[in-house]
Amino acid sequence: MLTKEKNELLCRVGPDSQMGRMMRRYWMPMALSGELEAGGAVRRIRLLGEDLVAWRAPDGSVGLIDEFCPHRGASMVLARNEDCGLRCIYHGWKIAADGQVMETPPEPDYSTRKDRVRSTAYPVRESGGIIWAYMGPSEAMSPPVDFEFAGLPASHVLIMKTREECNWAQTVEGVIDSAHSNYLHSSGIVPNAGLAITEDKGDVNAKAQFERPSNDGAPRLEVEDTPYGFRYAAIRRPLVAAERNKYVRVTLFVAPIHAIFPAPKGWGSMQMFTPLDDTSTMFHYILWRYDAPIDGATRERYLLRHGMRPGIDMDENFRKVRNRANNWQQDREAMRRGDSYSGIAGINTEDFAVQESMGLIIDRSREHLGASDRAVANFRRVMLESVERFTATGEPPIGLRTKVDYGQLRSAEAMLPHDMPWQAGVERAQAAE
Ligand code: FES
Ligand SMILES: [Fe+2]
Repeated sequence: MLTKEKNELLCRVGPDSQMGRMMRRYWMPMALSGELEAGGAVRRIRLLGEDLVAWRAPDGSVGLIDEFCPHRGASMVLARNEDCGLRCIYHGWKIAADGQVMETPPEPDYSTRKDRVRSTAYPVRESGGIIWAYMGPSEAMSPPVDFEFAGLPASHVLIMKTREECNWAQTVEGVIDSAHSNYLHSSGIVPNAGLAITEDKGDVNAKAQFERPSNDGAPRLEVEDTPYGFRYAAIRRPLVAAERNKYVRVTLFVAPIHAIFPAPKGWGSMQMFTPLDDTSTMFHYILWRYDAPIDGATRERYLLRHGMRPGIDMDENFRKVRNRANNWQQDREAMRRGDSYSGIAGINTEDFAVQESMGLIIDRSREHLGASDRAVANFRRVMLESVERFTATGEPPIGLRTKVDYGQLRSAEAMLPHDMPWQAGVERAQAAE
C-alpha cells in the first residue's frame, strides 16, 4: 500500500517530476542498435516523457535530439539524414548530433541566428546491441552500464522488445514477484520431481515450456539490500527430499529499471523496463548463451513462444496485437478445456496482460500486500528512499553512490540443504557453473 502522494512520486518520470530528475542520472536503454541504419530512416523516440528522434549518420555514429525543429517545429523524424547532421525538410535547417544548428539556408549571409540556437541533444553510447541515452546534467554523468551479456559476441545474445501500455513501476513489480509464476504461468511452467533446477523443454508447441522441481505456490521471500538495489531469494519446498533441501531462486533488482533472474543451465536472462512516459514502458527481454551462438531456429522459437515476433505480434512501433482492447485475446475455451490456466498465449503475454489490466497507473492506495509481496514492497521502499534523499540533499541515487561492476551481477537457482544460507549456496552454485 502506498499513499496517493507516494504513488505519484514513484511513478511520474517527466522532466519536472522528482523521479524523472532522478531517473535522468542513469543511462537508459533507448533503442536497439539494429533499429538504426547508417544513413537510413530517423526514428521517433519517446523517453522519460520527452519527444526525441534518433538516427545513425552515414559514418555509423548515433544522434539523439529533440523531435521538433528549433526553427518552427516541424518533426525531425521527416528530416534528411545527411553527413554529420539532420536537415529539416521544411526550410533546410541542419542540426548536428550535439544539438548545434549548423546551417540556416533561408537566412541572409550575415545572419548569426544559428550561433544562438541549439536543439536539445543527449549523449548516447552503444553496448551489447543496445543504444543507451543519458539525459541528466553533464557534470553528473554516471558510468556506463555494461551487463554481462555486453561482453559476449552478438551471436550469443537475443534481445526481444515490446511496448507495454502502463507505468514503468508496475512492469518492474511483475519481474520481482516470484509467487505469481505458480498461478499466472502454471500452464507454461510445470512441476517435475526429477529436476534440481528449472529446465527448458525446448518444444515451442508443447503446452508446458518449462519444468521446475517444485509445486510450492507459497514461496518464502528473503530480501537483502545491495549497492545496486537489492536481491531476494524465493525459497520453495522441493517435490522430493523436502525434509533435507530447499529450492532457491535468486533475483536481482538493479536500480532503476533492471532485473536479472535465473535462466536454464548455460543461459542468462534479464529484463529492462524503459519508462517512455508515465503511462507507457518499453519492455526488453534479453537472453544469452554463455558458450555458444543462439542459432536462427532457437531465436524464432523464443520470439514465437514469448509472443514478440516483430511484424506479427506487434507493429513496427512495438505496439502489441494482444492488448487491452481485445482482452489480450484471452481464450475462454482453452481455459474451460483445461489447456490453459490464464487463457492467454505465452508467458510474457500473460505478464503484459495482468500488468496492463491494472490500468495505466495503478492506485497503490487500494491494494493489500502480503508476505509474498516482500520484494515488491522493497522495490518501492528503495526507490522512494532514494528519490526523497536525492531531492532533499542531492545525494546520488541508489546504484550510483559507489561503483557497481554490472558485468559481475548474476542470478542463481539451486537446490540447497536447509542449513545452508542461500547467500552461501548461491556462491557455490555460481562457482560450479
Ligand atoms: S521548421 Fe525546420 S527548417 Fe523550418
Ligand atoms: Fe511473469
